Amino acid sequence: MDAMRTVDNPEPRGPYAFSVDVQDGIAIVTLDMPGEPVNKISRAVKDEFLQIIDRLERDTEVRGAVLISGKPDVFIAGADIEEFLLLETAAQAERLSRDGQLLIDSVAKMRIPIVAAIHGACLGGGLEVALACTYRIATEHPKTVLALPEVQLGIIPGAGGTQRLPRKIGLRAALDMILTGKNVRAKKAYQMGLVEELVHPAILLQVAVKRAKELGEGGKRPQTRKDRGFVDTLLDGNPLGRSVVLRKAREETIKKTKGHYPAPLAALDAVAAGLSGRAAHGYREESRLFGEMAATDVSRQLIYLFFATTALKKDSGVDVPVEPRDVDKLGIIGAGFMGSGIASVAVQQGTVVRMKDADHARVAKGFAAVRGVLKDRLTKRQITRTQLDDTMSLLGGTVDYSGFGSVDLVIEAVFEDLATKHQVLREIEPVMKPEAIFATNTSTIPIARVAEVAVRPDRVLGMHFFSPVHKMPLIEVITTPGTSPESVATAVSYGKRLGKTVIVVNDGPGFYVNRILFPYINEAGRLLEQGASIEAIDDAMVAFGFPVGPITLLDEVGMDVGAKAASVMHEAFGARFAPSAAIEKLVAAGRYGRKVKKGFYLYDEDGKKGAVDPEVYAVAGAAAERTEIPQLEIQQRCVFAMLNEAARCLEDGIIRSERDGDVGAVFGIGFPPFRGGPFRYIDSMGASVLVSQLEELDSRFPGRFEPAEQLLRQARR
Ligand code: 3HC
Repeated sequence: MDAMRTVDNPEPRGPYAFSVDVQDGIAIVTLDMPGEPVNKISRAVKDEFLQIIDRLERDTEVRGAVLISGKPDVFIAGADIEEFLLLETAAQAERLSRDGQLLIDSVAKMRIPIVAAIHGACLGGGLEVALACTYRIATEHPKTVLALPEVQLGIIPGAGGTQRLPRKIGLRAALDMILTGKNVRAKKAYQMGLVEELVHPAILLQVAVKRAKELGEGGKRPQTRKDRGFVDTLLDGNPLGRSVVLRKAREETIKKTKGHYPAPLAALDAVAAGLSGRAAHGYREESRLFGEMAATDVSRQLIYLFFATTALKKDSGVDVPVEPRDVDKLGIIGAGFMGSGIASVAVQQGTVVRMKDADHARVAKGFAAVRGVLKDRLTKRQITRTQLDDTMSLLGGTVDYSGFGSVDLVIEAVFEDLATKHQVLREIEPVMKPEAIFATNTSTIPIARVAEVAVRPDRVLGMHFFSPVHKMPLIEVITTPGTSPESVATAVSYGKRLGKTVIVVNDGPGFYVNRILFPYINEAGRLLEQGASIEAIDDAMVAFGFPVGPITLLDEVGMDVGAKAASVMHEAFGARFAPSAAIEKLVAAGRYGRKVKKGFYLYDEDGKKGAVDPEVYAVAGAAAERTEIPQLEIQQRCVFAMLNEAARCLEDGIIRSERDGDVGAVFGIGFPPFRGGPFRYIDSMGASVLVSQLEELDSRFPGRFEPAEQLLRQARR
């Protein structure tokens, strides 16, 4: 073995991110950006990497190289997104992409073989670097994921990803990754041919060095993609097949993005350009389209949301330094839809859960629901049968409070009724450890009202989960003036452990998310009464960017649930929240929505939504004839009511910041992400424009659109 030596970076500029050890002719290039939690390809890293490549190229003793990360769970998190914020023009962004391509081209053209030793997140520019290496080894570890998540930021892969990935794994698999940005776990990456080898993390470096040596000696050649079957050859392997795949992908993308997200289509164009002509043309198109996308407002808003959610990950939820308590055992009261949903995410995070309901049949139903969520994961091969059984073994059921004496947190998910919640709290508090926390999962009832009967009100708070719990990414943690900072920090920390984004909101009817949702829904109801067709209302809001329209949402949530909550809100806020009479009439007629297969829409036996039920207008007491209300008016009335209420929530101190308000609306009710959230949307249109529009609406519909003080102040500024 040669004497160990270090190839120093000759003129380190900026942070010294790389170190290079040459052992026995193999250079181990370690990327470990000092003072940063993740590795990212910043300007400085690019420059330093180029210098290292140059050095290795000239060092004739070096016969191979390994690229590895010094970070515990990240290989490379991609290009430095913060640098995108400094880009002012499409041309600047295009140049950034060209620079990235040149760097990656230098990796691909190295004289010596280079092995990417991947452990942890290998994303965006990180995967583009790995694709340019000679050989890729990934660790078989849950933290190891590979993706091109650029479209989620409103941009496209800009350092060769749209060109190299289709060649590496085939067109269809590449489009699936590029157009969704989804994470691919190591095992799947291996099956797809994205990486050549899987190893245990403990031997990653050792195996990578061995492979670099073998490749350097010409003894081992990287394999190309395996298992090219008949369909692969037919669709990915010839120009005609590829054009069919591209056309189909374009149609599906247009259907999915509804014209709101230009990046996936731009990515398709870049991929198509690479397949249709000379390679240089493909790379040029990639850079040009990257530049174009980076300059869009959509990209700016999506990047804002990335940083907003990242900032929330670090937010303890309280302003004072306090350590959250560990939650190892969780008690859940109520094994219904919400209770079992919460149980399903908790057991998957390794929490021991005790679930209580009034009788054995209900507990059994709750168990079946938890198993159902896990079974779904098993079917998708995300977990094994053993993992399913192990996870289920963390769940225990009871019809009394046995076992609740040792839990750290109790989440109550019983019927939305104050008296019932009081009864539960009175019963459970004497059983709980004094330091354990009681969280009520209510969607509207003020927490202070629930806490009135508590002996330890400092341990009472709200945890508002959204349904279905295993899919919805948000939790609102609701505090009262009496809740202790330690309780809040514990609930926030545990919410994050469940994989959720958590916003802390102050107590008040409807808290934040439901408070801004109701004026929107009520306005939809009034439009209906006025004669707008149900399709026109739903279509208008889908065209605005919501995943479903407000009427469909009501059918999904259940009219009875909605109406009950609406009356709580009306009582609290008065005329502004007066519920639409149409919805009340539907409840009276037992049209609760999808769950009873009778609502605004028709449902078949399996609960599949059909057309609007023509009888519903008469039941709702709506105008006999449908009147044409312009789409823009429908959008403005529903959305402005929501924006105005969001501004009031900020003014009333319900939310702590605009950031929380934006993230809460996007993750809680699907406010269009490409608009950044209610507050970013207000900024985009200008508070003064919104105020004047609200004033005009208020003169037509007195009392419903009076601009919030917060907006008036903002408009004056
Ligand atoms: N650029 C800049 N900062 C980044 C970053 C990136 N690509 N990735 C992560 N960070 C920062 C976060 O902002 C955060 O900063 P902070 O500590 O100052 O708040 C810090 O790194 C830690 O991030 P997380 O809190 O998110 O850490 P996690 O461990 O929870 O997650 C991660 C790590 C999975 C890497 C996650 O951060 C992530 O998904 N990052 C973004 C990945 C991405 O979108 N990459 C594509 C970039 S675009 C690109 O590569 C274009 C190319 O094609 C040219």
